[in-house]
Amino acid sequence: MRITNHPVLDEFPKGRQVRFTLDGNEMQGYEGEPIAAALRAAGIMVHRHTAKLDQPRGIFCAIGRCTDCVMIVDGKPNVRTCVTPLREGMKIQTQYGVRGKE
Ligand code: FES
Repeated sequence: MRITNHPVLDEFPKGRQVRFTLDGNEMQGYEGEPIAAALRAAGIMVHRHTAKLDQPRGIFCAIGRCTDCVMIVDGKPNVRTCVTPLREGMKIQTQYGVRGKE
């Protein structure tokens, strides 16, 4: 189920199909759509795990206001994937606490 329209963020652009990786696994999405939309279309609901209790988190506000969708994108932690456009070749990692799994 792909999110293509958002009541606050409006319609997402649908560019060409691009490849990216999630935790080393190759995936596909559309250039310009939010990373979270591409993940959701692939059935990925967990974006990070909390630092203290290791609880899973995913899309919550979907407008860039909370931190539930943060992931490590191209080595940079705490990227809000619900408002970050997807680009070809992005390396996306599930975030555990403030970093990736070691
Ligand atoms: S879901 Fe709240 S910032 Fe992305």
